[in-house]
Order: sequence, then C-alpha cells, then structure tokens
Amino acid sequence: MNREKILQNYEASDDNLLAILHDIQDASPEHYLSAADLRAVADYLGLAYSFVYGVATFYTMFSLKPRGRHLIRVCQSPPCHLLGSTNIAKELIRLLGIGFGETSADKRFTLEMSSCLGVCGVAPAMMVNNQVYGNLTPDLIAEVIEGLRRGK
Ligand code: FES
Repeated sequence: MNREKILQNYEASDDNLLAILHDIQDASPEHYLSAADLRAVADYLGLAYSFVYGVATFYTMFSLKPRGRHLIRVCQSPPCHLLGSTNIAKELIRLLGIGFGETSADKRFTLEMSSCLGVCGVAPAMMVNNQVYGNLTPDLIAEVIEGLRRGK
C-alpha cells in the first residue's frame, strides 16, 4: 500500500501518528521512514515536521535510514538475556558477517537489538520482519538465515 492510501485509512488526528508511522514503515521495502514520509505525515496531521521527526527518532523501532530487506531484531531484555541472547547475537554476527546496527553489503540483512518483543515465554527470541522466532538455538538460527538466503 502506498503512503497516500495509508494516510487515507486514518482520521487526521495526532492520536494516529504512531500507527501511521508504523504502517508507512511496514510498507517500505527498506523498512524505513524517508524525509518525504515524515513531511507527508506532518502535513496530513497538521503537525510541525520537527515534531514528527522528534517522534520518529525517539522510538527505536523507527529508522530514518534504509535497512536491509530482512530486518532481524534480537531481544536484549533481561529474560532473553538470562536465557542466552548474547550467544544468539554472536551467532547472528558470525552467520551474517555484520554487526548490530549494520546492513549487509547486498542490502539483504540488517541486524538490530530490540527491547522485549512480548514473547518472553519463548525466550530467547528474535523478530525477522514481522515474524517472531522463539526458543532460539544456534541450529534454529542457521535454519532461519538459510531459509531467508534461499528466498523463503
Ligand atoms: S524479554 Fe525477550 S521477548 Fe520479552
């Protein structure tokens, strides 16, 4: 769905700001919000660009720079940390050859840390685009990454 259609789905109320930013970012193949996106949202809601920019930079789930096609976010909150998220993070760095906050040269993967993903019962957990994976082990991670490389 394009940006204009997303905006039309919402009443022009600043209560809808976060939901609109989420939808626009989700619709972006590069998982980010461009300056043009922020301006269009500000204009639509009658807000100052600087306010919308401030909101978009406050929340870590929003990015103002293009990210890889597969956005991998590893939970670093205490329950996941206690159950081994550090080893999961190390394994992802090894498999992908990139560090946290980086995007692979082929633009396929971006690796990020995240706070609680809301699935602590299956810690340690990560999210790839909109899909959550829990009870992570090095084998499961290798399987997921291999699947993404093969285009699954
Ligand atoms: S602490 Fe990791 S999903 Fe909640």
